[in-house]
Amino acid sequence: MIVTKLTEAFGLRHPIVLAPMGGVAGGRIAAAVANAGGLGLIGGGYGDREWVARELAIVKDATRGPWGIGFITWSMRREVLDLALAQRPRAVMLSFGDPRPHARAIKDAGCTLICQAQGEEEARLAQEAGADLVVAQGTEGGGHGGSRSTLPLVPAVVDWVAPTPVIAAGGIVDGRGLAAALMLGAEGALIGTRFCASDEALGRERQKARLVAARGSDTARTRVFDIVRGYDWPAPYTGRALRNRFTAQWNGREHALAEALDVEQARYRTAADEDDYETALVWAGEGVDLVRSIEPAATLVARIAAEAEARLREGVRHVR
Ligand SMILES: Cc1cc2nc3c(=O)[nH]c(=O)nc-3n(C[C@H](O)[C@H](O)[C@H](O)COP(=O)(O)O)c2cc1C
Repeated sequence: MIVTKLTEAFGLRHPIVLAPMGGVAGGRIAAAVANAGGLGLIGGGYGDREWVARELAIVKDATRGPWGIGFITWSMRREVLDLALAQRPRAVMLSFGDPRPHARAIKDAGCTLICQAQGEEEARLAQEAGADLVVAQGTEGGGHGGSRSTLPLVPAVVDWVAPTPVIAAGGIVDGRGLAAALMLGAEGALIGTRFCASDEALGRERQKARLVAARGSDTARTRVFDIVRGYDWPAPYTGRALRNRFTAQWNGREHALAEALDVEQARYRTAADEDDYETALVWAGEGVDLVRSIEPAATLVARIAAEAEARLREGVRHVR
């Protein structure tokens, strides 16, 4: 068993956190991860009230284990945060924006405040907000993020925010990644892409199948999916997704895409409805090389933890 400040804080059996992936991490997978001994975070995303209310009801019904919810800070409405807090999550994670205005409400509700940081500025804001845990998110990760790489970013964030505990994210898929994160000074790993390819993740079967077939070199950071979907993401955040015909057509031509939205938005929506992922979006991190199957989330949690423990024990043998 691996014991860290993260496992102690939540009474976890494993130092593994399900990333709060908007539209993917619903109540069912959050409960599956919590029941398997990790921390399950629902992906509150842009804060759709109905979606959040439905998934909160599901997680509460399906687990007595530790669960929480994450929001995209710049798009979050207070009313939706309050709705979530009323359901007594163990943790709220804020990412992409200034967490300070919301920190008091979260902590007064008896909730652990987790802030995701992509670099020094976000780490500073997390500290000022009084974050209980900071996620250091490397650019290798799937979905939105920044430009710093996980390997140098994690120990830097550990130093910047000490003594606040840090969780590593971005490119962690198996027990080797979790063991490496612990060696960098993190107290655990927050994992997204690997859990997208699980039975309980929301999302179309063809999206999951594309993840299983993809390589890390098929991914790229881009803004074009935000532009076409009408999301006004602030700089410096971009999203890592599988490259396809749509990214080939518009990457580097973002202004032209913005001018062609009348036609392109309709075309994009049709493609998404029809499961056409040569146009529509599949978020994926560079670690997708290591995603070779769709499995139950509990199987993934158990295997990642067991592999990490074995690696750590084996590592000691290198020391003379
Ligand atoms: C499909 C998908 C959706 C995501 N949505 C969110 C989100 O709504 N809020 C958030 O803070 N992070 C989001 N992320 C980023 C994760 O929190 C996390 O940092 C990332 O998945 C870690 O890297 P990995 O994908 O290599 O495991 C998303 C990631 C993916 C793959």
